Amino acid sequence: MKMTPTLLTLLFFTCGAFAADVAAGKAIYDKSCKRCHGGDGAANAAIAKMMKVEMRHLGSKEVQAKTDAALKKESVEGVGKMKGIAIADADATNLVAFLRTLKQ
Ligand code: HEC
Repeated sequence: MKMTPTLLTLLFFTCGAFAADVAAGKAIYDKSCKRCHGGDGAANAAIAKMMKVEMRHLGSKEVQAKTDAALKKESVEGVGKMKGIAIADADATNLVAFLRTLKQ
């Protein structure tokens, strides 16, 4: 069967809609989270001190025990002293997929 451009486009969108993209999630993390949470999820000690709060490793058992929905909500809406970031739902899904790779 010859792949028509229409069919290819359709395939592209169907896959994109269901598979979370870790690489895209990492790009968001590096841009919006890394300065406070570090490249590997270990908190930036200076930030924790400045914000006067204990920051857990994002790959810790406690953080990883949260559901995808909870991690998404905390990232987008913020949690405790942390402000959230305004990103699209699909981007938040990719971000959470990346957070799962930080698991210790
Ligand atoms: C300005 C610094 C800063 C930035 C930027 C930031 N965070 Fe945070 N984050 C914090 C602090 C501080 C806490 C702890 C908040 C508290 O306990 O009051 C926290 C807590 C969290 C928690 C809860 C961890 C736990 O121990 O339960 C998650 C999940 C999280 N951040 C994810 C993210 C993600 C994802 C991003 C990027 C979209 C991000 N954060 C950006 C400072 C930041």
